[in-house]
Amino acid sequence: MQHVDVTHQVWERILDVKTGAACLCCGDWTWGEAQALALYGALAQPTATCQVFAQIGQSLDGRIATETGDAQDVSGKDGLAHLHRLRALADAVVIGVKTALQDDPQLTVRLANGTSPARVVIDPDGRLPNDARLLADTSAQRIVIQAVAKERPAGVEAITLPRAPWIAPEDILKALQQRGFKSILIEGGGVTITQFLEMGLLNRLHVAIAPLLIGSGPQSLTTAPIGTLAQARRPKTAVYNLGSDVLFDCALSPADALPIVAACCTSGIRPAEGPRL
Ligand SMILES: NC(=O)c1ccc[n+]([C@@H]2O[C@H](COP(=O)([O-])OP(=O)(O)OC[C@H]3O[C@@H](n4cnc5c(N)ncnc54)[C@H](OP(=O)(O)O)[C@@H]3O)[C@@H](O)[C@H]2O)c1
Repeated sequence: MQHVDVTHQVWERILDVKTGAACLCCGDWTWGEAQALALYGALAQPTATCQVFAQIGQSLDGRIATETGDAQDVSGKDGLAHLHRLRALADAVVIGVKTALQDDPQLTVRLANGTSPARVVIDPDGRLPNDARLLADTSAQRIVIQAVAKERPAGVEAITLPRAPWIAPEDILKALQQRGFKSILIEGGGVTITQFLEMGLLNRLHVAIAPLLIGSGPQSLTTAPIGTLAQARRPKTAVYNLGSDVLFDCALSPADALPIVAACCTSGIRPAEGPRL
C-alpha cells in the first residue's frame, strides 16, 4: 500500500476547495497526491447540509489511552498530522469532558496549514475548570455544552441543554448548526464519538490504527452489543496508508459512500486530466 502524499501543493488545493476557490477535478497530481485529494476532498467540498465526521486514534488492541489516561501519543506522527488536517477542515471540534480533563488539549491546528476551528466541550455537570487551556486561549470561539448553570469566563458561550441521562447528540448538533457551523469534527474520546455514531449522526468515521499494544485502558468505540455477526454494521470503507498509521475511512450512509462528484473550475483543464477520485 503506497503512502498518502500530502504535499504543500495538494494541501493548499484542498484548503481552496473548502473555501470554494478551487475544484477537486483539475490538476496534474501524483498517485499519492490523488489519494490525498480523495481522502480530504470528501470533507473539504462545500455541501448544502451539515457534515459531521469523527476521528479516533487507537492501538492494535482497540485502546485509546492507558488506564492512567496517558494518550500522548497513541497515534504516530503521521496520524497526528492527519488529526490536525481534520481540525483545519472543520468549523468546530467537539470533545467530551473526560478528554478535556485528562489531556487539557489546545485543539488548535499546529501540524498543518489552516485555521483552528471553534472548540466545543460537552461537560454536563460543569466539571471542567475555567482555566482549562481550551477555554483560556482566546484565539478561537469557545463553547461549553452543559446541563447545569455553571458560569463560564467572558468570551466562552455556555449552552445549557437537558440530559436524560445523556444530552441528546441531535440537540448538540442543532445548537451548533444554529451558530453557523457546517462542518463538525467529533474528536473523542470513544464515549463521545459512540453517542453520535449510535444515533446515526455521523457522515464519516476515521479510525486511525497505530502499531502498538496497550493492553488495558479506555476502549475506542463501545457500540451496543450484538448477537450475531450478521447484525454487524459494515460501512463502505477506504483504507489509506498514512505512514506511521493506517487509516480506515468509513462512509456511514449510502450517500456518503458515493464517489466525489467534482464541479470543474474555470482553469480550462478538462476533468479527465485530473486524478480519478
Ligand atoms: N487516542 C485518541 O484518539 C483519543 C482521543 C480523545 C481522547 N482520548 C483519551 O480518551 C480518554 C477519554 O475518553 P472517554 O471515551 O473515556 O471519554 P470522553 O469521550 O472524552 O468523555 C466522556 C464524557 O463526556 C461527557 N459527555 C460526552 N457526550 C455526552 C453526552 N451526549 N451527554 C452528556 N455527557 C456527555 C460525559 O461527561 P460526565 O462523565 O461528566 O457525565 C462523558 O462521561 C482520555 O484518556 C483521553 O486522553 C484518546
